[in-house]
Amino acid sequence: MKVAVVGATGMVGEVMLKVLEERNFPVTELLLVASERSVGKKITFKNKEYTVIGLADAVAAKPQIAIFSAGGDTSLEWAPKFAEAGTTVVDNSSAWRMDPTKKLVVPEINAGELTKEDKIIANPNCSTIQMVMALAPLHKKYKMKRVIVSTYQSVSGTGVKAVKQLENEIAGIDGEMAYPYPIGRNALPHCDVFLENGYTKEEMKLAREPQKIFNDKTFSVTATAVRIPTAGGHSESVNVEFENDFDLSDVRKMLHETPGVVVQDNTDTNTYPMPIYAHDKDEVFVGRLRRDETQPNTLNMWIVADNLRKGAATNTIQIAEYLVEKGLV
Ligand SMILES: NC(=O)c1ccc[n+]([C@@H]2O[C@H](COP(=O)([O-])OP(=O)(O)OC[C@H]3O[C@@H](n4cnc5c(N)ncnc54)[C@H](OP(=O)(O)O)[C@@H]3O)[C@@H](O)[C@H]2O)c1
Repeated sequence: MKVAVVGATGMVGEVMLKVLEERNFPVTELLLVASERSVGKKITFKNKEYTVIGLADAVAAKPQIAIFSAGGDTSLEWAPKFAEAGTTVVDNSSAWRMDPTKKLVVPEINAGELTKEDKIIANPNCSTIQMVMALAPLHKKYKMKRVIVSTYQSVSGTGVKAVKQLENEIAGIDGEMAYPYPIGRNALPHCDVFLENGYTKEEMKLAREPQKIFNDKTFSVTATAVRIPTAGGHSESVNVEFENDFDLSDVRKMLHETPGVVVQDNTDTNTYPMPIYAHDKDEVFVGRLRRDETQPNTLNMWIVADNLRKGAATNTIQIAEYLVEKGLV
């Protein structure tokens, strides 16, 4: 496969290269792409040095697959140009996620929808991916009615600039700010931009994307997204009300048997998911499983994943692997 990585110099891009290498994705030719600022920079992949190129050169090279993590504006402008050149784009930004003509894919849930005609495929938001991974088997059996999610999101979810802000604050350096306030020793109820309805864009992604992934509008999701000073790994407190009653031991068993999900749930041994241990892992970790005692058929859970891996790079590359495996590119 001739593969282009667009946004190769960014936080997600760097992890994408790592995941491509680890999973031995069949790369025969690699194009590393970033903004004009980075053209000419050198990046090593599998012990070979590559020079970063610009977007126009990458389109002209007609890769079979382009994996994008370079922000929404870059995707809106350039993904169609790649698609026109015959390249299949898997995009990490929010640009195409809610476009009804584009698929929004978590491979374990809905890769089966993909066809050769899908030239721009959207990767869901990082917080959405980890949540739906845990909800999918439960929704199938008990049918969700309503989900209330509160997130505790790491600074790596914002990108290089935010990680630098936290590092600077810890080191006592007065540097460039990615957030409107200090993030160290703080919690910002503000992820992405505010919308007219008073929610943030991140909160609305959590509300809308699951319905599209499950192809089901019979349940609703409401979200509060909070940025906290962890370097990597997003955590979520999720309260889910089902149509049907459940047995907690069945819930645990079902999650335990779900590929890509790991149950860490033993209060006797203080076992529960934490971002520090989810770091660099592809799995979604679930724990603190307990009944909501205030309402029937309702479950409380805690979900943690590495936002740069399953929340971004790994999910994207799993989509690309599916396309290759099924002969769709
Ligand atoms: N961080 C996460 O957890 C996460 C999770 C899921 C999805 N995403 C999405 O992935 C994308 C990248 O996120 P990130 O965290 O990796 O951000 P980042 O660290 O700021 O990196 C941004 C990347 O995009 C490139 N880029 C920016 N403007 C460009 C342009 N005009 N033309 C070509 N390349 C351009 C940058 O190149 P230069 O180095 O040359 O500036 C860099 O490689 C965003 O759309 C984000 O929403 C991020």
